Amino acid sequence: MADIDFSHQNDNHHNKRHQKLEIKPRHMDFPFGSLKHLKFVDNNIYKSAFIGGLSSAFPAGEREFLDSVRNYRDQITNPDLIKQVKGFIGQEGHHSHQHKMVNKELDRLGYNTNKVDMALKKVIDRRVKKLSNKWRLALTVAAEHVTAIMGEFIINHPEFLDGMEQPFKDLLLWHAVEEVEHKAVAFDVYMEYEGDIKFLHKATRISTRLLHFRLTRHMFILAFNTKHWSNWKDFKQTMIWMFGKKGMWRALRKPYKEFFSEGFHPWRDGGLELIEKWQKDYYHPEQNKDSLEYIAVHSV
Ligand SMILES: [Fe+2]
Ligand SMILES: [Fe+2]
Repeated sequence: MADIDFSHQNDNHHNKRHQKLEIKPRHMDFPFGSLKHLKFVDNNIYKSAFIGGLSSAFPAGEREFLDSVRNYRDQITNPDLIKQVKGFIGQEGHHSHQHKMVNKELDRLGYNTNKVDMALKKVIDRRVKKLSNKWRLALTVAAEHVTAIMGEFIINHPEFLDGMEQPFKDLLLWHAVEEVEHKAVAFDVYMEYEGDIKFLHKATRISTRLLHFRLTRHMFILAFNTKHWSNWKDFKQTMIWMFGKKGMWRALRKPYKEFFSEGFHPWRDGGLELIEKWQKDYYHPEQNKDSLEYIAVHSV
């Protein structure tokens, strides 16, 4: 899948070689039925509710990402970009599906993921879908930048997921690698057919604020729906996990800001090596429906 050399991406020359990157959904089948604990992340209610809230938002959110790119599909003439858009839509569709599956299991553990899903669907239907195609695509480009840098962060810092039950960890790492792999697709479509960088920056600032607000809200919705929310220690640890020295939000500040720098492109600062790292360090054949190992185990 990742057989292109991006080692020259750091120079400032205009470089479109990333458009040759083949983007294909990896068909996975995670054993979510084995998830055991309500506090499936580090035995911490708020960490679990944060990850659960993120997962609850993916089906509706990613649906909007792929719809907003699909609006441009008929205009695209570059065959490489056509292929990448197809791969992007396929990957986001699979992510939605896998998150729907895991969300059912989160409900079994005691959460109410439906509440988040319904709230988000309402906002998307009533507000986002009424926006122009340009707005919708710009918001997707912004969200794709954030999901890509989050993906890069967890592949580089798997310790952030320490204490998470394995199937969920595998899900997030798989989702992360595909977010990295397709990180430039919405951006390239936007630059080709809209190209208004000032507008994109404005949309990104708005989108990031909304994203922070929503993710925090989702965490509270899920936590408050359980009997375990009253736990100051868990809350404090979660704040450190997010905003502390080694926290995710703090680590994301720099790559987030890169988006606003002159001549930014999602592949400019690398990332291809992370696809190889995932394949080497995190992929287990038994996660993959199509693998011979999987078939051997499941056909017994
Ligand atoms: Fe995704
Ligand atoms: Fe994505």
